[in-house]
Amino acid sequence: MMQRIRHCDGDVRRLYLLDQSPGAVAQAYREQRVMLHRLGDSDGLFRLDESFNNMAKNINVLREGGCQLRVAFDGDHYDALLPSSMHWNSRDSELAIYDDFRIDVFRGGRAGQISGLLSFSRAMENFNSLVLPTEEFFARVWDKADPMQTYLDRLQTAVASAKSRIDYWSHWLARYEFALDVEDESLKSSEADLTERVLRDKGSWGAVSRYLDVGTCTGRYLLRLRDAVRRDGIIVGIDDNLDSVLFARGNIHEHCPDDDRITIVQRDFLQDTTLIDGEFDLLTCMMGTLSHFGHDRNNRYEDNLQRALSHMARLLRPGGHLVFSTWSPEACEKGNLLSIYGKLDAARLARWTPTVNELDARLRLAGFDPPEKYYPDARLILWYCVRRST
Ligand SMILES: C[S@@+](CC[C@H](N)C(=O)[O-])C[C@H]1O[C@@H](n2cnc3c(N)ncnc32)[C@H](O)[C@@H]1O
Repeated sequence: MMQRIRHCDGDVRRLYLLDQSPGAVAQAYREQRVMLHRLGDSDGLFRLDESFNNMAKNINVLREGGCQLRVAFDGDHYDALLPSSMHWNSRDSELAIYDDFRIDVFRGGRAGQISGLLSFSRAMENFNSLVLPTEEFFARVWDKADPMQTYLDRLQTAVASAKSRIDYWSHWLARYEFALDVEDESLKSSEADLTERVLRDKGSWGAVSRYLDVGTCTGRYLLRLRDAVRRDGIIVGIDDNLDSVLFARGNIHEHCPDDDRITIVQRDFLQDTTLIDGEFDLLTCMMGTLSHFGHDRNNRYEDNLQRALSHMARLLRPGGHLVFSTWSPEACEKGNLLSIYGKLDAARLARWTPTVNELDARLRLAGFDPPEKYYPDARLILWYCVRRST
């Protein structure tokens, strides 16, 4: 039919009505994926991916056929315009308007299978009184609708975000802060001790004006490196996990409630657009957090890991310092990361950890001088890098 319509220069528009705003649908889609992952339901994940791929495929076919596609949530209830004789049910009905000669209302949208059809045509006495409100309903919702591609991109972002999410044990923040086993606890302290020593050796201790900690988690580095920052400086911790942000704020409130240099904000570092280029002279990203950005790591260095490193370089002033740690090849090989990660996630993070050579190349590309490496523990490598001056 689309071919025939196009043949006579006609116009085909298809509007997908959602039962919530597109943002809420994408969020729910992400949560559904996360829940299936938590339950270890790989069949469910496969089915979810398959239904998304089928939808994207059908949409492409329609698009290639010349159909204009949009997506909307009728939050303003324009469907109240529709005459009651249409028996419209926004959760189950589909509507087809064929110019000014026919309107069809299908039942069965919820189950994805047509279970009934009401057809209205020009041959009917009251047809004109149906056409105008129906067209007005369509036009109003169409005008407020999003392009289909925007909606698909949103769903793709939700999938990527769910795929990159790490499932910790419950109460992982309390465990990470107070109840780690001896080895993990010693890993934390040797990393922090060495970081402090390096900053002192470099003459930065007490001289930092603006400090940013990425993936701040419990805020332990904000506390530990507080004295590296000048009295009139600023200290910012960011984390995309709300629980981490609240925990870190609580930690700061408990240990230094009067330190008004410190701010902790919930942000996804990969999406962040609020921090200002060249604003910081020290940036940290500790305890292997870099691996969290490595879920689409590729050897062309056009991936989130490279975007994260370039973002770090841009945020630093020329000559500014980046300190971060990565899991050692030995830890990756044995999957011996922190005990707050489940086995599958530890393996995933190990896979997402770049090799030393790869990271050297990536740092150079991002705008850093050749890095110095330190070894606080057999499981960690500590990197100290300076933002190139040009
Ligand atoms: C291993 S923990 C960090 C531990 C902390 N840096 C330390 O050394 O104690 C990783 C943290 O990074 C955060 N994170 C992961 N991906 C992130 C992103 N894209 N943006 C901001 N924070 C992120 C996680 O929520 C988590 O709190």
